[in-house]
Amino acid sequence: MIEQSKEIAEKIVKPLTPREIVRELDKYIVGQAKAKKSVAIALRNRWRRQQVQGPLREEIAPKNILMIGPTGVGKTEIARRLARLAGSPFIKVEATKFTEVGYVGRDVESIVRDLIHLAVNMVKEEEHKNVEEKAKEMAEEQVLDILLPPRVEPKYEPRPDLQDISNETSVSPSYSSTREKFREMLRQGKLNERIVELEVNPKASMPSSPMVEVFAATGLEDIQQNIQEMISSLSMGAKSKKRKVKVTDAIKILVQENMSKLIDMDKVVEKAVSLVEQFGIVFLDEIDKVAGRGGGSSPDVSREGVQRDLLPIVEGTTVSTKYGMIKTDHILFIASGAFHIAKPSDLLPELQGRFPIRVELDGLTQEDFKRILVEPENALTIQYQALMGTEGINITFDEGAISEIAKMAFDVNEQTENIGARRLHTVIERLLEEVSFEAPDIGPQEIKITAEYVRQRLQDVITNQDLSRFIL
Ligand SMILES: Nc1ncnc2c1ncn2[C@@H]1O[C@H](COP(=O)(O)OP(=O)(O)OP(=O)(O)O)[C@@H](O)[C@H]1O
Ligand SMILES: [Mg+2]
Repeated sequence: MIEQSKEIAEKIVKPLTPREIVRELDKYIVGQAKAKKSVAIALRNRWRRQQVQGPLREEIAPKNILMIGPTGVGKTEIARRLARLAGSPFIKVEATKFTEVGYVGRDVESIVRDLIHLAVNMVKEEEHKNVEEKAKEMAEEQVLDILLPPRVEPKYEPRPDLQDISNETSVSPSYSSTREKFREMLRQGKLNERIVELEVNPKASMPSSPMVEVFAATGLEDIQQNIQEMISSLSMGAKSKKRKVKVTDAIKILVQENMSKLIDMDKVVEKAVSLVEQFGIVFLDEIDKVAGRGGGSSPDVSREGVQRDLLPIVEGTTVSTKYGMIKTDHILFIASGAFHIAKPSDLLPELQGRFPIRVELDGLTQEDFKRILVEPENALTIQYQALMGTEGINITFDEGAISEIAKMAFDVNEQTENIGARRLHTVIERLLEEVSFEAPDIGPQEIKITAEYVRQRLQDVITNQDLSRFIL
């Protein structure tokens, strides 16, 4: 077990240092240094714990984080970026999606079920890489067998393995030289368009005994999925069916099939379970929306119930899934919410206590807006440049224009509702509406967006509060 999680840690989970993590996050998120630092430390601590020897390791629990900050300042964005670089099984869920057990809706245990599902796919992909070469070689032989059925004793082995072929002694020399010629042509892609008849096995990678697992699964969704798998395997029967496909597609299908055959699903599941237990991260978004205690209107009944259901999972419990029992003790939880109306203290005390690290995200300044417009790798201005580029229009924003857009977005936030950086989207969309519409008709050209242009397009809307309330 220990060895295994070590191995996984090295293969899938990238051991980034906190500084490296922050640097990666910096590429997409402006400011919010405190929040970045906290998540970076939490992530690194997973790796550190893995290096600790002996029973102490089991004692080291993750320090869950609660991110608090106004809307549109980058909370979800941090989580999203973290997911990409962590390499850990990572899932982002909205607390509002869940209902108390017994009500219609998703129960919180489904978080863990989704997480393990994800991890299984991650590990499977990793294992596939290891067997891909072999699977390709096998597919080549299989296609050659179809194109050029061996003329020797009818061997009722539709797809002999690589070794079988090369060791075949009774093959005539002319046959094998033809086969080699075909192989050559196949590799050069000359046979790509040929149609071959292929036997397609019904899902080779299916869990060994879906029947039994239906009853092991607890979640309604799990059961549904299992039944679906069962039905599909039943209706197709154990027999494979024939399909006519092009050689290129045949190879693709065969490679997939071979890869599934070559990997050991039990091992994959075992690794995935360990990966989730040791490195899983759950991002609980909109947690403030389930805050609010005690009496009051009806939705609260369920809200508090959701919090109560969350308690054991965050604290550490065992959830039964179709891949077996998963312990949640070492899963890291990062919760986030605007806490506009509710306060963190409105959460159940038990739940508050389970998020010992609090980070506040700052409201964004006008200066931040300017940076957000140009600095992130996916910055809005870059996105619009790419979009317009497809119409042959080279659009550029000069510095004055950027300042002006930032200022206007900031002002509208002040005057109406503060929706953070999302305001930039509405402002810029409005700004470029005309260009966007005309683009295909005005032909290739350069368009330079200046401060003057920005004012011209937006001044009326900005100064008229009633108007900006509706439009921006
Ligand atoms: N600090 C930032 N740097 C770069 N982009 C940002 C930043 N803050 C927000 N954005 C952009 O604004 C949009 C909304 O941000 P995000 O989804 O992170 O908001 P949030 O903090 O989760 O708000 P909410 O509480 O409403 O969920 C995203 O498209 C994101 O790219
Ligand atoms: Mg959010």
